Amino acid sequence: MTIKQVGVVGLGVMGAGIAQLVLQTGYAALVNEMDKNLLNKGLNRIKTGLEKLCEKGKIKTEDKDAMLQRLSGTVNLSDMASCDLIIEAVFEDINVKTEIFIALDKACKKETVFASNTSSLPISKMAVQTSRREKFIGLHFFNPVAVMPLVEVIKTIATDPQILEIAINFVKSLGKYPIVAKDNAGFIVNLFLTPYMLDAMRAVGEGVASINDIDMGMKLGCNHPMGPLMLADFIGLDVINNASNILFNEYKEKRYAPPPLLVKLVTMRYLGLKSGRGFYDWSDPKNPVPVDFGI
Ligand code: 3HC
Repeated sequence: MTIKQVGVVGLGVMGAGIAQLVLQTGYAALVNEMDKNLLNKGLNRIKTGLEKLCEKGKIKTEDKDAMLQRLSGTVNLSDMASCDLIIEAVFEDINVKTEIFIALDKACKKETVFASNTSSLPISKMAVQTSRREKFIGLHFFNPVAVMPLVEVIKTIATDPQILEIAINFVKSLGKYPIVAKDNAGFIVNLFLTPYMLDAMRAVGEGVASINDIDMGMKLGCNHPMGPLMLADFIGLDVINNASNILFNEYKEKRYAPPPLLVKLVTMRYLGLKSGRGFYDWSDPKNPVPVDFGI
């Protein structure tokens, strides 16, 4: 099986990043959003991403134009019938994701491989709702997609080994490094990364140290590109809260439970970078300032 056309459902930060990468590596991309307004926003996000690469001299203008010629968009999932691989990257709601896959399953040719970019929801629960559970995998990209070299490839107990191989080779063709995970909550990276960030939040809540000192400790002491609290803001506190609940429900271990401070921030819709405030005030995104919680 040869992958030529890749479908991407959902054009938020992750979906648009994946579509851009797919175009840059020579594939055609058919992208989908719920309505015309969101579709146009997503298409613009992809175009802007490619234009920035042009400005930096990383790709030639004619290459960018060729990439954009291979890009098309639709608001109808039924238009995605001809895609060889479809990557779903909508928000983390199992019901919404499942509905999308049921619609795609009805529309697509039987060879089409389905993938979810979920960071924490069970792939099996989506796969079982389709007629192609053996052609169903997880492809978990990291944010920012353009920069992070890793993709987790998640196999369920029903995934056909040949499909897994195709997925691994696809990831390599994108210039990313594939690691294979079983369909367990947290896969590989979030199993370790989530409790690390939760620990840092608990430390803030318990007054162990300031936000700045916790982050600088890990940044300068361990050479991480950003500290755990800034990373949490960068990923989105709602996303981490979600992942935390899923991990806690699965493993029933205290270290996965959402810390009270995280719950309070999410309740107030202080979600980090995307809402302008979380552990940091992001009024100036280039110069985030730690928030004083008065702890
Ligand atoms: N999109 C595209 N490119 C981006 C980008 C974005 N959103 N953000 C940064 N870049 C590029 C810049 O253009 C620049 O490229 P260049 O060197 O070719 O000019 C390069 O990345 C470095 O950017 P900056 O100099 O602006 O900034 P930094 O050096 O501070 O790096 C960072 C920014 C890459 C975000 C770095 O801080 C980092 O790696 N942070 C950790 C990110 C991380 O851990 N991500 C994983 C999160 S977990 C996840 O995604 C899983 C999910 O399930 C939760």
